[in-house]
Amino acid sequence: VERTFIMIKPDGVQRRLIGEIISRFERKGLKLIAAKLLKVSEEQARAHYAEHAGKPFYPSLIEFITSGPVLAMVWQGVDAIQHGRALIGKTNPLEAAAGTIRGDYGIHTNRNLIHGADSKESAEREIAIYFAPGELVDYELAQHHWI
Ligand code: GTP
Ligand code: MG
Repeated sequence: VERTFIMIKPDGVQRRLIGEIISRFERKGLKLIAAKLLKVSEEQARAHYAEHAGKPFYPSLIEFITSGPVLAMVWQGVDAIQHGRALIGKTNPLEAAAGTIRGDYGIHTNRNLIHGADSKESAEREIAIYFAPGELVDYELAQHHWI
């Protein structure tokens, strides 16, 4: 069982796609164990996207992710990280397959609606930027054995 960090970006919140996006993760069979609506601070943004510091798109990425409220979430399940990335689709909505979140709702790489951790290490690192350990909720879903 794995945990992944997922964030609905400011464009997803503004376009009122929170319900639609959460619904896709729920139906997939992943379990929501933490969620928080917040405005990302400069410090959190820089920590989150540290790997992209110095790249040409970095300043606009930081500006965008801090531009309005986001929904930070932790989802748990078998291979949650890869399943999360598959639900989200490729970075550039032009390349994201129909049926993925970016493929269905986005048209621009800078407004691609949602973030998903890309490895176990990033997932743990990103979860720690936005959540205290006590904010992750441990519970059993009745459907668990059917998924
Ligand atoms: P995240 O889930 O947001 O981390 O996206 P990703 O993992 O699919 O892509 P990556 O981590 O490589 O890049 C982070 C974000 O920077 C992307 O979501 C894009 O918004 C932006 N980005 C990445 N690569 C490019 C690029 O080549 N050009 C531009 N303009 N933006 C980029
Ligand atoms: Mg990434």
